[in-house]
Amino acid sequence: MTASARQISTRHLLGIKDLNEADIQLIFETAENFKQVLNRPIKKVPSLRDITIANVFFENSTRTRLSFELAEKRLSADIVNFAASSSSVSKGETLIDTVNNILAMKVDMIVMRHPYVGAGVFLSRHVKAQIVNAGDGAHEHPTQALLDAFSIRERYGDVAGRKVAIIGDILHSRVALSNILCLQKLGAEVMVCGPTTLIPKHIAALGVRVEHDLTAALKWCDVANMLRIQLERQDIAYFPSLREYSMLYGLNKRLLDSLDKEITIMHPGPINRGVELTSDVADSKHAIILDQVENGVAIRMAVLYLLAGRQE
Ligand code: CP
Repeated sequence: MTASARQISTRHLLGIKDLNEADIQLIFETAENFKQVLNRPIKKVPSLRDITIANVFFENSTRTRLSFELAEKRLSADIVNFAASSSSVSKGETLIDTVNNILAMKVDMIVMRHPYVGAGVFLSRHVKAQIVNAGDGAHEHPTQALLDAFSIRERYGDVAGRKVAIIGDILHSRVALSNILCLQKLGAEVMVCGPTTLIPKHIAALGVRVEHDLTAALKWCDVANMLRIQLERQDIAYFPSLREYSMLYGLNKRLLDSLDKEITIMHPGPINRGVELTSDVADSKHAIILDQVENGVAIRMAVLYLLAGRQE
């Protein structure tokens, strides 16, 4: 069966938990086709010509918002963009009322980023539209995990059997949970590494290794996914200072060169240069950070295209 003849098993994409391995492989095969389209002089296909999508962002975003918008435009969808900061939310309008008013204008699909865990699940139960979670608090960021795994697959040919260390602020990260679930469904081994205060207490129950020593994590892994310290989600001090954090958990060229092997460096962005990794690492040949961003458009095209085929 060709990728286009197969269907994704879910109507919404609220988290990686909604996808089985066959869904993820289907998304990857579809994204490969769309990546070819994106490398042509005319980067557009008519696939979603009859679909209207609203990008509803209650939190700041650069990569995810622009990437979804470009994916929608490349698929010829009609789009509207909503930013909470310039909307009637400031006048007290609820999430359900806001979205139902958007849907009254004949919108088919909502791509939503929201600071609250479970906002996408909540919305999917109360409104008549397909929902794509573009990040809900510290819970899930499914399209980020898909583009990360797709980038690993592109680099190594397969995700199965790869050792991936997710390093940094695991506690406040939606990228971490979605990556763990996605990588495990694809057969990778996953380790989380960071200070004790930034690793959730029972995370080993997910079947991940836990490491507090950065050098040990780097020696173990093929891929290091360096996460940002999410100061905006931290209500107390989880470590003495950013300087001390970067001394213990920041990746620099000296440390990378001291390993007797090559590893691939990833980062979901935005990077805090000099904190989780130095510029000479972020801009080195080991880093695939901009490949991740490039792949994000093809992955989001694939997700939107496949979900649009599952409207009932
Ligand atoms: N990776 C990511 O979600 O980046 P943005 O917050 O800029 O969308």
